[in-house]
Amino acid sequence: MQAYLDISHVGMTFAGKHDSVVLSDVSLSIQRGAFVSIIGHSGCGKSTLLNIVAGLIRSTIGGVLLEGKEVDSPGPDRAVVFQNHSLLPWLTVYDNVRLAVDKVFGRKKTRAERDAWTRHNLALVNMDHALDKRPHEISGGMKQRVGIARALAMEPKVLLMDEPFGALDALTRARLQDSVMAIHQRLGNTVIMITHDVDEAVLLSDRIVMMTNGPAATIGEVLPVNLDRPRDRLALATDPAYHQARAAVLAFLYERHRAPTTH
Ligand SMILES: Nc1ncnc2c1ncn2[C@@H]1O[C@H](COP(=O)(O)OP(=O)(O)OP(=O)(O)O)[C@@H](O)[C@H]1O
Ligand SMILES: [Mg+2]
Repeated sequence: MQAYLDISHVGMTFAGKHDSVVLSDVSLSIQRGAFVSIIGHSGCGKSTLLNIVAGLIRSTIGGVLLEGKEVDSPGPDRAVVFQNHSLLPWLTVYDNVRLAVDKVFGRKKTRAERDAWTRHNLALVNMDHALDKRPHEISGGMKQRVGIARALAMEPKVLLMDEPFGALDALTRARLQDSVMAIHQRLGNTVIMITHDVDEAVLLSDRIVMMTNGPAATIGEVLPVNLDRPRDRLALATDPAYHQARAAVLAFLYERHRAPTTH
């Protein structure tokens, strides 16, 4: 069976005075509806890989197929949530999402439908109370939620998230993780998320892709996370399978593929 999203022998070399080989022979097949996390030490090439899947940069060798079609440019079928939200500061919360909705559904939905769809997606992330606020008037966690609403509103085939909760405090992070899990459960979209957080990776993922250190980073191991859904963070705290998965990721990152030392 052909994979929904197929990353095939991707390599990336940035040219310069000294060429730097960042990724080498990265291959990964992802089924429709799967939630996949990518974890690895800083600088190993996670964002580079995500940007290749997003079509924002082209790999030097290898390629990415989505439903059998080559990814060679950015497109609304692959929405990206960046680590630091990328809202337009002069637009309101509503207009930031509406702009994306108009771009994707300008011809397919009526004006009234686009309005309702914008509001619906902001309600999904509990931001419908702040439609008229501008980004500087809301908190970091709220901005992140608007960024997620904007990405979901595009109904992307694949949702790409680069450390979406990295800059948030622990409580906000937990709330957003729960809402992303609920949305994924309800919509069944395919998600690739980069994270540095082992607990987050185990809690959210069907598979955890662990990357080796660069240069020429590649996939070291892929850990399936066989925990029933919906998942409950409190119940998992006492679940041996949860702790086993966590220990496996920690062992990869801190025993077998330690961060390179700087001295
Ligand atoms: N446009 C570019 N030109 C040259 N080198 C680049 C470019 N983009 C990234 N790199 C290099 O590629 C390597 C991987 O960068 P990348 O941002 O993908 O890492 P990362 O795993 O996402 O790190 P972090 O966890 O810190 O976000 C780094 O050494 C970086 O300096
Ligand atoms: Mg990165």
